[in-house]
Amino acid sequence: KKTISIAIDGPAAAGKSTVAKIVADRLGYIYIDTGAMYRAITFEAIRRGVELNSHSALEDVLKTVKVDLRLAEDNTQHVFINDEDITEPIRTHEVTNSVSIVAKHKNVREAMVARQQSMAANGGVVMDGRDIGTHVLPNAEVKVFLLASVEERAIRRHNENIKKGFDSNLENLKEEIAKRDKLDSEREIAPLKKAEDAIEIDTTSLTIVEVVEKIMNLVTERA
Ligand code: C5P
Repeated sequence: KKTISIAIDGPAAAGKSTVAKIVADRLGYIYIDTGAMYRAITFEAIRRGVELNSHSALEDVLKTVKVDLRLAEDNTQHVFINDEDITEPIRTHEVTNSVSIVAKHKNVREAMVARQQSMAANGGVVMDGRDIGTHVLPNAEVKVFLLASVEERAIRRHNENIKKGFDSNLENLKEEIAKRDKLDSEREIAPLKKAEDAIEIDTTSLTIVEVVEKIMNLVTERA
């Protein structure tokens, strides 16, 4: 059996990471959360108080940080910046609502893509993001584009928040998700877009298990 690469792209809160983790687990592959890497740079830029629209300020951040993804003992993925665990703070509202600004920059994207490609060099990866099938792993054997309505995605995120005991406002979530999708789809470099050869899966009326099964079927066909 061949070791392949699996690219999972799609808009914000479409369930990419949830299904990517399960697929990776089933196959014994490495899961790579590329959004977490853009969030890490954004977190650090905010912490340093730099202008998020400044290419040169972001260049300084990039030069002095190393972003790492590592598996913790409980098999969950943790995100590090210069060996500091920032898994939790990269999920704040502030980071979520600023990350698309930082992710627009050419220097940021080039640095992250190089890192992602080296992590995937030996195959056996499930990578999720926005530009994986189109730019990061154009030769991935399986490419999936996950879709769901903004309404559905906002409701899912809202329910997750409530379950975790976080404050949550459905209308705000809808607006934030739509805004992030717009910025990510309209940016100049490697925008959010379905690769021509990606299989589109609309998850609106599917369960997580059903989405996983669809992807596993593609894997069986191609591995
Ligand atoms: O996947 P997640 O929602 O954590 O991604 C956060 C943000 O990182 C996205 O909204 C996008 O701006 C950026 N991103 C990107 N390219 C990727 C993954 C994420 O530009 N491959």
